Amino acid sequence: MATGITKREQHSLDAISALDFYEEQIPLPNEEAPVTLTYPNKAAITDIVQPFPRRFICVDDQGEKPLAKLPDNSFILDDNFFVLNELICENKKADLFYLDPPYGTGFDFHSRDLDHAYKDTMRQATYLEFMRRRLILMRECMTDTGSIYVHIGHQMLAHLKVLMDEIFGSNNFRNLITRRKCSSKNFTRKQYANINDYILFYSKNNSYTWNQPGVKPEQEWIEKEYPKVDELGRRFKLVPIHAPGTRNGETGQPWRGMVPPPGKHWQYVPSKLDKLDKQGDIHWSRNGNPRRKVYWSADKKTALTDYWEQYRDAHHQSIKITGYPTEKNLEMIKMIVGASSKPNDLVIDPFCGSGTTMQAARDLGRRYIGVDASFSAAKATLQRMRHGLKLMGDYVSGKSKQAKQLVLSDVGKTINSCTFITDSCLLDAYNAEIRELSSI
Ligand SMILES: C[S@@+](CC[C@H](N)C(=O)[O-])C[C@H]1O[C@@H](n2cnc3c(N)ncnc32)[C@H](O)[C@@H]1O
Repeated sequence: MATGITKREQHSLDAISALDFYEEQIPLPNEEAPVTLTYPNKAAITDIVQPFPRRFICVDDQGEKPLAKLPDNSFILDDNFFVLNELICENKKADLFYLDPPYGTGFDFHSRDLDHAYKDTMRQATYLEFMRRRLILMRECMTDTGSIYVHIGHQMLAHLKVLMDEIFGSNNFRNLITRRKCSSKNFTRKQYANINDYILFYSKNNSYTWNQPGVKPEQEWIEKEYPKVDELGRRFKLVPIHAPGTRNGETGQPWRGMVPPPGKHWQYVPSKLDKLDKQGDIHWSRNGNPRRKVYWSADKKTALTDYWEQYRDAHHQSIKITGYPTEKNLEMIKMIVGASSKPNDLVIDPFCGSGTTMQAARDLGRRYIGVDASFSAAKATLQRMRHGLKLMGDYVSGKSKQAKQLVLSDVGKTINSCTFITDSCLLDAYNAEIRELSSI
């Protein structure tokens, strides 16, 4: 743009970007071009979204039954890549995805008795491409009003944010939620103690399902926000009865001989202010300044922020769990399911571990599908969904009592069934193990 001043003068006026100064030598990036993550062997979308020949089979006490379609309310033992492709072929769409994939920690995860649960040893580009392929598939099988929540650690958070912007569009980014996962730790390293993990929340479009979640505030907050107490013991606060902006109508006219302060108008017409005063809802200060009383009521909630302190994972003996490593807080996932889906919607967790999302969805009257490639996860999920949770449960360890005995002696009731599905290749390779799981 011609401003009539030289570039050097402009810089002395507005020295924001060093790049501008070298504009002629180094071209500026095209602002319209999407920002993408670059690494070798990034597969073409057409190679990712394509039918794979898999045959899904329901396995139960009665035997094996090939399935024409994947049913709701089921757990599928398989690599989620094949399941997501199958869902696309069937045109079956999720209203909500919650996933808590491996975080790129470099660790192997075990049960309390050191039985293997799952590996998290993929590094950098391999990990990112693993996630990218699956996120592309998830976007394909999301309803237009759907949302996706990706729970992740600090290790790959920044890379995944860029990948998700690429796949879902940065305009569909909703929140980066910080969740406090545990209490403060001892100082064992030359760095700050890590107590949080993160959730990336995106929607497919602008018109996504949203039921505003609220939280009951702490007593300390209530007392600070509503500092006054009336003769009946009710807490209240005082707020001005004027609002910014001038008006020519009734709300700009004098009330009880007072004009609104300069640049303001009354929040209500004079007749409404008279009514509030008659009801005792206007408080008059000693120097005659009127303010409105706003009472605290027990059903009032405050907006849930993007910092979640209240949803830590199991940390004491009175919490019911399956004992699966990295098992997430059930109440946290219930909150997500309640906020981002409607009754009877389909909730899918493609990395379901011990089935926490499936239980949250079932408890709130949603349909659900959980997928996991680990036998330990299958055991934990089927135990949870068919027989319930236990205080400090250990549904993972091979050394724990047989599933059936555990159910009869410790939990004692069958809660619900959950269809157990796997694919024909796995069934051929691990027939005995899969049969054992089917009888949980
Ligand atoms: C962090 S854990 C999930 C824990 C779960 N949120 C819970 O509450 O129990 C990640 C899970 O992803 C599973 N997983 C990893 N790669 C997978 C894949 N390609 N397909 C299906 N599951 C996979 C692992 O077996 C593991 O159970």
